[in-house]
Amino acid sequence: MRILVINGPNINMLGIREPGIYGKNTFADLLSLLEQTARAENLEIEQFQSNHEGAIVDKIQESYGKIDGIVINPAAYTHTSVAILDALKAVSIPAVEVHISQVSAREAFRQISYPGMYCEKTIQGQGLDGYRQAILYLKETYGN
Ligand code: DQA
Repeated sequence: MRILVINGPNINMLGIREPGIYGKNTFADLLSLLEQTARAENLEIEQFQSNHEGAIVDKIQESYGKIDGIVINPAAYTHTSVAILDALKAVSIPAVEVHISQVSAREAFRQISYPGMYCEKTIQGQGLDGYRQAILYLKETYGN
């Protein structure tokens, strides 16, 4: 099973950015967690991080016919991007949304998620482990 993990803007700054909210783990720690999960679960996991909305849309489109499940943390684009929502709908690949922080307990402007309107599940407030949980959900639901 091939899973694509997409991270949006500023996720590459993990460990440096607002550690009180996002924790002290770095982006490199997230990449090792993904590698460990791939080995432990016998999955092919590709990761993609971009600070650019259009690059994320391009990556989702390129996944058509190649990827079996998407884990996406659209970061700030969560709350603004109809384009990412439409790209997910266009390729129709099962997707799970992840947020490191407990978005539901934060500012009013973070309470809407456009990509989340497509995703079958949202995992939030679990730190980096949320990515592992999302991958396991896709494996259990769609793996063979
Ligand atoms: C985030 C939450 C978003 O509101 C924020 O803009 C981010 C990270 C999270 O993982 O908790 O950049 O998606």
